[in-house]
Amino acid sequence: MSRGRLISFEGLDGAGKTTQIHLLEQWLTSQQIVYVHTREPGGTPLGVEIRRLLFHHPELVITPLAEAFLFQADRAQHFNTLVLPTLETGTHVITDRCFDSSIAYQGVARGVGVELVSYLSLLATQGHAPDLTIFLDLDPAIVHERTDGRAEHTRFDRENAQFHQKLREAFLKQACTYPERIKVVNAAQTPERIHQEIVLLVADVLSREI
Ligand code: TMP
Repeated sequence: MSRGRLISFEGLDGAGKTTQIHLLEQWLTSQQIVYVHTREPGGTPLGVEIRRLLFHHPELVITPLAEAFLFQADRAQHFNTLVLPTLETGTHVITDRCFDSSIAYQGVARGVGVELVSYLSLLATQGHAPDLTIFLDLDPAIVHERTDGRAEHTRFDRENAQFHQKLREAFLKQACTYPERIKVVNAAQTPERIHQEIVLLVADVLSREI
């Protein structure tokens, strides 16, 4: 039995990850492909508490380094108790965000440093990386309009346009560094068109021998 594949979705808040993951789930189900859908932060009981700490206490001052460790603590628990054991059973894992978010948000935008955050991410994932990362790329100006009416606001919604531009550039740079793994999808297209592109990418990674 071959190991399951790990597929991560990345993008600025409001880039359309939720819609696209939902469409992909429908496609996987229609193909009778078994998968687990999870997310970072918040994919485990500990992760739910870490997510609450991070996003539901706007009064809490969290330093950039402490923030970086909180995301990595979530990830360490996630990989150890859910992601890696699931992949071992041959089931695929679809995760809403993974360590590329840490690189972009904490490493670059918060200034913790890409090298340090990459090192911490490797510790947290026990050296594993997604088999495919889909980066939904969208102009931060459009993203801003989409996130205004959200129920859950993250610490980052309040940041200025420059912060979001830095994030976008960081994700694009990651994609240039790892072109085999990270695929950039233009998120300004219609949801159906984006979904078609994603299905091709996912079908390709699922068909590869490992
Ligand atoms: P989301 O789950 O609604 O996409 O929001 C999670 C937020 O946390 C989003 O603003 C990105 C941010 N984040 C980081 O800053 N670092 C990380 O490592 C991860 C996984 C998410």
